[in-house]
Amino acid sequence: MINGGKPLVGQISVSGAKNATVALIPAALISNSKCVLENLPLIRDVYVLKDIIVQMGAKACIDQSGTMEIDSSGLNRSHIANGQVKELRASYYLLGALLARFKEVSMAYPGGCDIGLRPIDQHIKGFKALGAEVEIEHGMISLKAKKLVGSDIFLDVVSVGATINLMIAATMAEGTTVLENAAKEPHVVDVANFLNSMGARVKGAGTDVIKIMGVEKLHESSYMVIPDQIEAGTYMIAAAAIPGGDVTINNVIPKHLDSIAAKLVEMGIEVHFNGDSVRVISNRKPKSADIKTLPYPGFPTDLQQPITSLLTLSDGTSMITESIWEGRFRHVDELKRMGADIKVEGRVAVVEGTDGLSGAKVSATDLRAGAALVIAGLMANGETEIFNLFHIDRGYENLEGKLASLGADIRRVKY
Ligand code: EPZ
Repeated sequence: MINGGKPLVGQISVSGAKNATVALIPAALISNSKCVLENLPLIRDVYVLKDIIVQMGAKACIDQSGTMEIDSSGLNRSHIANGQVKELRASYYLLGALLARFKEVSMAYPGGCDIGLRPIDQHIKGFKALGAEVEIEHGMISLKAKKLVGSDIFLDVVSVGATINLMIAATMAEGTTVLENAAKEPHVVDVANFLNSMGARVKGAGTDVIKIMGVEKLHESSYMVIPDQIEAGTYMIAAAAIPGGDVTINNVIPKHLDSIAAKLVEMGIEVHFNGDSVRVISNRKPKSADIKTLPYPGFPTDLQQPITSLLTLSDGTSMITESIWEGRFRHVDELKRMGADIKVEGRVAVVEGTDGLSGAKVSATDLRAGAALVIAGLMANGETEIFNLFHIDRGYENLEGKLASLGADIRRVKY
C-alpha cells in the first residue's frame, strides 16, 4: 500500500547485484571445494538457488549480512529436480556449471519473468561447440560430453546468459575457448573475476571478445559480489519521481550508472557522483525523453519499465523503444489504470506526459513491472495497492523498508 506524493529524501545503500549473484552461486559448484560469497542480496531468487544446490548435495548457508558459504565437494547429482528450477531464469547457469563439473546434466527448461520469448539457443549452440551432445525432450534439457574441448564461438545475438554460461562451461575445457560478440554487462565481468579467483584463466570480460584458457582444477575462493546496477538505477528514478526529492544512494559503481544518469540529466534531474555514491535531486517536473534499450553500456532494458513510470508525468511526449524483450510492456495496462497516457505499437511505447496519476489497485506482472508500479504509486495522488509482490521479492531486497526510510508512505499488508 502506497500513499503517493511524498518526495524522497535521505540516504540508502544498494545491495549486491542480483544478476551477478544468480550466476556466482552455480559457478561456485564447479570448484569442488569451499567458496564464500559476500554481499549477496537477501532476495527470493538467492534463497531458491540455495535450496536447489542443497537438494543436489552441496552444503550452503547464508547469514543476514548476505554472506553465503558453499561447500560443493559433496555435490552428487547431475540430474536436477524439476520443481524450483522453473521459478527463475538463472537456473540455466546450472547447465553450464554441472556440464563443467560432471560432463553431464539434465534439467527442466528454466522459468523466470514473462517478458517475451526467452530462447536459449545460443547457450545450446555453445555447449555443442564445446563437445556436448544436447537433447531436449518432454521439457527437459540433457547435456552429455565425453570431454569438453575449447572452441571458437560467435554468438548470433548479444546474450548475457549465454556469455556467462559458456564462460562457466569452458573454464575446465581442454584448450582455449574464444567467445565473440560477447555481452559486456557488469555481471559478466563479475562472474569472470570470480572464476579467476578460483584459479580459472578468463581474459577480456567487459569487451566483446572473451578468451577462456581451460584449467585442470580450481580451488577455494572468497569473493564479494558487485553492487546492483539495476537496484541503484531504480532508486535513482524513484528519487527523481517527485519534485523535492534529494536522495544519496551509497555503495554504487558510478561507471555502471552512466546511461541512466545521462538520461536523468537530459530530463532536467540533477545527478552528482561522489566516490561510490550518487546523489539525485529533483527540482522540477521531468522533461520528456526518448529511450532505446540496448545491451551494456546502452540503456538497460531492466530499467525501461521503471523509467516509463517517471515519463508518465513528464512535460511532453516520449518514445520508448524496447529492443531486447518484445513482451516487456505488460506494466503499461496497469499504469493506464492509474491515469497514464501510453500507446504501445509493437516494440515502441509512446508516452504522453499528463498532469497527475491517481492511486489504483494494480498488479505486478514481472519483477521490473513491479518496481515500475511502486514508482508510479509514489508519484500518484491517493492510495495505490499493488498485488503479486512475490515478483518484486525475487529481485529487490527490502524495497519497502528502503523507500520508507526515505520518507515514502509505503507498507506491506498481508492478507
Ligand atoms: C539477463 O537475461 C537478465 N537476467 C535479464 O534481467 C536482462 O533483462 C537481460 O539479461 C538483458 O540484459 C539474468 O541475468 C538472470 P539475454 P538473459 O540472454 O541472460 C535473445 C531482470 O529483470 N537471446 O541477454 O536471459 C533474447 O531473446 C531480468 O533482472 C536469444 O535469442 O537475457 C533477448 O532478446 C529480466 N537466444 C536477447 O537475446 C539466446 O540463446 C538478450 O537476452 C539467448 C538470448
